[in-house]
Amino acid sequence: MEEWVIETERLGLRRLRAGDLAQIRRMSWLDADRVLHRSLEEYERVGHGFWAVILRAGGEFVGVCGLLDQEIEGRREPEVGYHLIEIFHGQGIATEAARGVMDYAAGAMGLRRIVSFIEPHNDRSARVAAKNGLVYERDALFRDIPVRVFVADPSVGRGGEAAATEALADDGIGRMPPA
Ligand SMILES: CC(C)(COP(=O)(O)OP(=O)(O)OC[C@H]1O[C@@H](n2cnc3c(N)ncnc32)[C@H](O)[C@@H]1OP(=O)(O)O)[C@@H](O)C(=O)NCCC(=O)NCCS
Repeated sequence: MEEWVIETERLGLRRLRAGDLAQIRRMSWLDADRVLHRSLEEYERVGHGFWAVILRAGGEFVGVCGLLDQEIEGRREPEVGYHLIEIFHGQGIATEAARGVMDYAAGAMGLRRIVSFIEPHNDRSARVAAKNGLVYERDALFRDIPVRVFVADPSVGRGGEAAATEALADDGIGRMPPA
């Protein structure tokens, strides 16, 4: 059985591994080696990065989604990011995966602010962000590329059951402060 970092209704998210490279390469706009190696490095350094998104029913690799340790305009920010293999677009997968990542950020990490950097004409990605409650904050430059910064408190809008369990378990110890 797979050990998921995050589970949602249809999806399991697990750490990327070298054997995923061929699947990551199916997303031609990504630098697959960089995605893999950066994630492996981030797992060690901060415990998260891009994870593999798997359809739990059939075990199929459909893309990557995760929480990236980014630096923008001199500030470190946890960014929710997602990329799917094209044949899996349009099924609500990115929205579901990103919501799972936001729940993890709020629950396991205690974060109260996450961001997404979205290029101005990426309407699909902006729609995913909006569906998950992110709102536009500002325009910025990210690695010299103009982006729109969307933000959310990931603890808002969490599933009632998860949030309730969290509240019961919360003894106030060991939580990371908000970013
Ligand atoms: C962005 C991406 C991850 C979205 O994945 P997805 O699983 O298809 O997204 P979802 O199905 O959860 O939601 C997409 C939404 O965008 C809408 N949409 C699709 N094409 C659109 C378009 N051209 N303009 C505006 N909205 C669009 C869909 O209708 C849907 O909204 P709805 O549920 O209200 O109908 C996917 O398109 C992708 O991998 N793109 C390339 C990589 C990328 O841009 N990543 C984001 C970087 S910031």
